[in-house]
Amino acid sequence: MGRNYRIATIPGDGIGKEVTPVAIDVLERAGSLFDFQFDWDLLPWSCEYYAAHGAMMPPGGLDEIRHHDAIFLGAVGFPGVPDHVSLWGLLLPIRRRFNQYVNLRPIRLLPGMRSPLANAAPGSIDFVIVRENTEGEYSDQGTISAEGSDDETIIQHSIFTRRGVDRIFRYGFELASTRRKKLTWATKSNGIFLAMPYWDGRGELMAQSYPGVDARQFHIDILAAHMVRDPGQFDVIVASNLMGDILSDLGAACAGTIGVAPSANINPEREFPSMFEPVHGSAPDIYGKNIANPIGQIWSGAMMLEHLGETEAAEAVMSAIEHVLLHGPRTPDMGGQASTQEVGAAVADAIRRRGPLFKLIAQA
Ligand code: NAI
Ligand code: MG
Repeated sequence: MGRNYRIATIPGDGIGKEVTPVAIDVLERAGSLFDFQFDWDLLPWSCEYYAAHGAMMPPGGLDEIRHHDAIFLGAVGFPGVPDHVSLWGLLLPIRRRFNQYVNLRPIRLLPGMRSPLANAAPGSIDFVIVRENTEGEYSDQGTISAEGSDDETIIQHSIFTRRGVDRIFRYGFELASTRRKKLTWATKSNGIFLAMPYWDGRGELMAQSYPGVDARQFHIDILAAHMVRDPGQFDVIVASNLMGDILSDLGAACAGTIGVAPSANINPEREFPSMFEPVHGSAPDIYGKNIANPIGQIWSGAMMLEHLGETEAAEAVMSAIEHVLLHGPRTPDMGGQASTQEVGAAVADAIRRRGPLFKLIAQA
């Protein structure tokens, strides 16, 4: 018998419920080819669950999945439940409790994808956003004073700890060392008086330990402009929680559609399960039509395989994705007319075991 993985599976809301089963079929196919199996523990935690139970997940829910090998999530959030309730009730507790302090978001313009940028050729965009995922601007700390009066004042704290800042920079520099050795970090030290000069100082200190990596910093505003003007210059981008969140939607849009963008919430020390989910949300505007692009979810699944150590299977899924991006079928967001299921089935069909012969031919 092959290896077996227990996956906490949370389709969530909206198109999360459409793309998750399709991605599971693809991963099952990979498992059967590469001799491993999954137990998909299906959890109904979602806005629907909230409507019925008054919470996004049961009390003690996180203890239930604490020892799983990974978490595979679709999307959460739906009209009727305020977004801050759904986010703080499910996604953020998972990321924080399981110390998933790295949010990894690869952005690649693959052949067959159409970038809205006039001069972007396939292969010219290939960078990874390393977003800090447990602290920073996403905080429930602060005060509201003089509530209800004209002096009503909200003070919202951002939290930057030395441990939190150092470990995200270290992860980024390590990653850049394995790639094109170029790291850019986002800052806004001119406007954000305390946190960002601190952030820059820790980045500069970390850079000294990685003399082989070409490191530089940009203010977030001009960084956003550079991402549109010349995305090919980036390799690894390290950013705080909010800035990384915004940049990853911008990056995904530069590569054509948010429907293909994957992400991984990683606990690098592996004390807890890591979580894999597409960058997109639950897309209530297209939910129910079966036209959601499943590739972001499938690519997130490939990142999960990589994390589980199933490197060959991950590569096989990635080359199947590349094949389908190039030859179709395509969902409407990519200019096609195919359904979610048709694209998923095409990816599953394109998965092949790449033997030594294939590798020789590919290298020739
Ligand atoms: P969204 O990502 O759900 O949708 C933005 C736009 O992209 C929509 O026009 C949608 O149709 C399109 N789109 C998204 N994914 C697509 C796919 N796979 N294929 C084709 N088109 C796709 O973001 P939005 O509209 O801001 O948020 C909707 C809900 O999702 C909200 O409740 C929000 O809080 C939640 N959300 C959840 C996230 C998560 O679970 N990680 C991330 C972002 C939003
Ligand atoms: Mg986002």
